[in-house]
Amino acid sequence: MRLTPDQSGLIRRAEKVTFTFDGASVAGHAGESLAVALLRAGHLHLRDAPEDGAPRGAFCCMGLCQECVVRIGGQVVESCRSVVASGLAVTSLKEQQ
Ligand code: FES
Repeated sequence: MRLTPDQSGLIRRAEKVTFTFDGASVAGHAGESLAVALLRAGHLHLRDAPEDGAPRGAFCCMGLCQECVVRIGGQVVESCRSVVASGLAVTSLKEQQ
């Protein structure tokens, strides 16, 4: 396997935006998936399983599993199919904060 040098610094990203997750400030890039921005910020636990309260987070990242749901403006949405925007207020579906 050929190893290539780290080229992550060459990636051109959209403008930085800030939103909140359970009241904490999170940085993302305009237009990227909310699930990706949360994962990158270390927020892996997005909801609790209703049956046993086990922590759940993004799994399929394509809108099939529903493991990544969060609340935005009173609506429960899939974070992997939602877009980051400046000023967005996102809350988890954890039983205990
Ligand atoms: S990660 Fe599966 S629906 Fe979002």
